[in-house]
Amino acid sequence: MRLLGLVFAGALSYMARAAETDSQWVANLPKSSQRPSPPSRPLQWGDINVISTTDTHGSWDTNTIRSPSRIIEDCSATWGDYAAFVTHMKELAEEKDVDLLLVDSGDLHDGTGLSDGFPPGGVDAQDVRSLNPTSLYSTFDSTSLQSNEFFKQIPYDVLAIGNHELYTYANTYDMHMNFGKHFQGRYLSSNVNITVFDASNQSVSVPVGSRFRKFKTRKNRSVTAFGVLFDFAGSDVNTTVQRVEDMIHEPWFLDAIAEEPDVFLLIGHMSVARDRWPVVFNAIREVHPTTPILIFGGHFHIRDCLQLDQRSMSLASGRYMETLGWMSLNLDKPGSTAPINFSRRYLDTNLVTYQYHTNRNASTFGTVQGQNITQGLLELEERFGLKYQYGVAPRDYTMNRSPYPSNGSIMTMIVEDAAPTALALNTTRAGIPSLLIISSGSQRFDIYKGPFTKNDQLTASPFVNQYIYIPDVPFDAAIRVLPELNRAGAERLWATKSEDGEESLQARVVRLEREVETGYMTWLEDMHRRYHERPQMREEEGLTLGYACPGEGDDTPHIPLPAYRLPDFIGSRVPDLSGDAPIDLIFVDFIEAQVIRTLNEVQTARVYSRADAGVYSDVKSNEVLGLYASVAWN
Ligand SMILES: *[C@@H]1O[C@H](CO)[C@@H](O)[C@H](O)[C@H]1NC(C)=O
Ligand SMILES: *[C@@H]1O[C@H](CO)[C@@H](O)[C@H](O)[C@H]1NC(C)=O
Ligand SMILES: *[C@@H]1O[C@H](CO)[C@@H](O)[C@H](O)[C@H]1NC(C)=O
Ligand SMILES: *[C@@H]1O[C@H](CO)[C@@H](O)[C@H](O)[C@H]1NC(C)=O
Ligand SMILES: *[C@@H]1O[C@H](CO)[C@@H](O)[C@H](O)[C@H]1NC(C)=O
Ligand SMILES: *[C@@H]1O[C@H](CO)[C@@H](O)[C@H](O)[C@H]1NC(C)=O
Ligand SMILES: *[C@@H]1O[C@H](CO)[C@@H](O)[C@H](O)[C@H]1NC(C)=O
Ligand SMILES: *[C@@H]1O[C@H](CO)[C@@H](O)[C@H](O)[C@H]1NC(C)=O
Ligand SMILES: *[C@@H]1O[C@H](CO)[C@@H](O)[C@H](O)[C@H]1NC(C)=O
Repeated sequence: MRLLGLVFAGALSYMARAAETDSQWVANLPKSSQRPSPPSRPLQWGDINVISTTDTHGSWDTNTIRSPSRIIEDCSATWGDYAAFVTHMKELAEEKDVDLLLVDSGDLHDGTGLSDGFPPGGVDAQDVRSLNPTSLYSTFDSTSLQSNEFFKQIPYDVLAIGNHELYTYANTYDMHMNFGKHFQGRYLSSNVNITVFDASNQSVSVPVGSRFRKFKTRKNRSVTAFGVLFDFAGSDVNTTVQRVEDMIHEPWFLDAIAEEPDVFLLIGHMSVARDRWPVVFNAIREVHPTTPILIFGGHFHIRDCLQLDQRSMSLASGRYMETLGWMSLNLDKPGSTAPINFSRRYLDTNLVTYQYHTNRNASTFGTVQGQNITQGLLELEERFGLKYQYGVAPRDYTMNRSPYPSNGSIMTMIVEDAAPTALALNTTRAGIPSLLIISSGSQRFDIYKGPFTKNDQLTASPFVNQYIYIPDVPFDAAIRVLPELNRAGAERLWATKSEDGEESLQARVVRLEREVETGYMTWLEDMHRRYHERPQMREEEGLTLGYACPGEGDDTPHIPLPAYRLPDFIGSRVPDLSGDAPIDLIFVDFIEAQVIRTLNEVQTARVYSRADAGVYSDVKSNEVLGLYASVAWN
């Protein structure tokens, strides 16, 4: 039983995953047709209050650069609005004479044009690029030097490193030299090191940020904080992640936990529901059986909550700046064994929510700093050319909210329409019957009805892959490749190393992201299932789509998002042929080895090899949507 007797905001109904509480929860839902919907009730403040973000992935300006959509309106505030919210919440904390802490659990990198869209030749990225010219998104440098400047303007108390800060050495180096130094001991990487040259030009392994932080709050409460990453095996050369099980035996760790603080604050990039939190938690509990422990996790992109004992609480605050997490607690006397009174909340990130909780309105909310940040983001967008509009999307195309195949599925749109159209523009093989196969892991995000910009393209299709083909494959063999690929599963992708034996960067990212997607999908399905099991469903008309966790966590009640899983591989429309009619079998280079291997499994007439494959087009996978939009959406 994961949930011990907890006391939560005066009721025992929090239960992150317990279905029993659903009927109570539904009965109290307010009706509203406003968008975004307002919060349902004020926050509960305690002695210590924490605002938490995680997995922001560059999603710092959803209002101005993402196309409108109902879910996006719920998280439509800019990073500048967030800065203003923080300023006002700090003022409220002073008025109430309580502590307010700000924490972030990592993964700032990789997500949108603002984090990935650095144009080649940009001055600010130059130094870093010379350190490591390889980038995940090769036409752009994936460093976030510029957008990190906006992150740095938020007065975080503790930040933890995420796995996306470790895929390329240049990013890790920037976090070490620049970001970490800015935050002066607040950027924590308890079990993550980087190898650098020291003053005498020797290679040395040092923590990327700091290993721990001990500090006093405004109210003079002592806090001991760590920043822990899960056992991440995909980090770049010259970065190292120590196993959490080993970290807790390190002398520095044992020293750091020896003294009892008022609270332990464990920030880290790992899921609160699983993973290694109990390892860290138990190590502290062995020494301090009753000291309050606050845990802020991440990585799975979900709103989550878990209580390891009655004097601790774990929270995860979603993803992509869609959610701000809130936790508060009242402290009791040291040594007390009574349950601690915690409250938690997941805030939608929009101005309605921000103004509601800060008791401000449109004319009193804005701050000079917030406006400056929003202005700076707009200028960055301009410099990166992110607003360039290819066309106007006629509807939403989503990864998981529409089934595959269907007209609302981004996968159907790409593999059946966008890619065939874009490739036909640039190939000598136009008009020859073909079948195209791509991996569904090639897409990252939805496209929404409205202007389709360069930023949308970078956000939706980050990977740069070439389209290759094998000519004259017999039709009846070609059509058996896709089902067989899916039967064998995507696992084969990362079982296949490149010729030099190294797992490719894209394979590392796709492997890890698939775990995250699975965690996220399981959560969406869970919300969806709960909701549709309920008889009173129709009473909730007027609510907007969004995250709908059970219990008291959601600040704004929503109808859960539909959730459909995707096959690992998807294919274009099958040409109207039969028998051994010759066709072009087209696929992205990322899955070349598996496709050829599979083709050799589904037929025995001949043995295919890499030598049979040629370049189909100069168009790359990250250009397909823009080219298609230019043709079809104008
Ligand atoms: C927890 O705090 C809330 C708000 O201050 C209060 O209403 C409730 O009675 C408290 N519960 C316990 C068990 O102290
Ligand atoms: C990084 O690793 C490479 C290969 O292992 C090594 O040659 C290089 O010196 C390392 N860089 C640093 C900064 O230590
Ligand atoms: C440090 O060593 C590297 C090779 O390991 C060399 O390229 C570089 O010039 C050296 N720098 C200094 C300041 O000696
Ligand atoms: C991390 O860096 C510290 C300080 O240089 C060093 O003592 C430790 O051995 C390194 N840890 C790993 C796992 O490389
Ligand atoms: C802060 O707390 C420490 C004990 O942790 C105490 O010695 C000190 O006097 C306190 N300072 C203030 C300003 O209250
Ligand atoms: C906003 O709040 C201020 C101060 O409470 C008030 O004077 C003003 O009339 C309000 N403005 C609007 C548009 O409601
Ligand atoms: C405005 O933003 C810039 C970065 O865009 C920053 O350097 C500067 O300090 C900010 N000024 C204020 C007043 O916040
Ligand atoms: C899907 O789109 C096609 C082409 O626009 C259209 O003919 C068809 O009716 C649509 N299907 C549904 C279920 O909307
Ligand atoms: C494809 O694009 C490349 C680069 O823009 C161009 O050189 C080539 O002529 C194009 N080929 C066709 C068939 O359009």
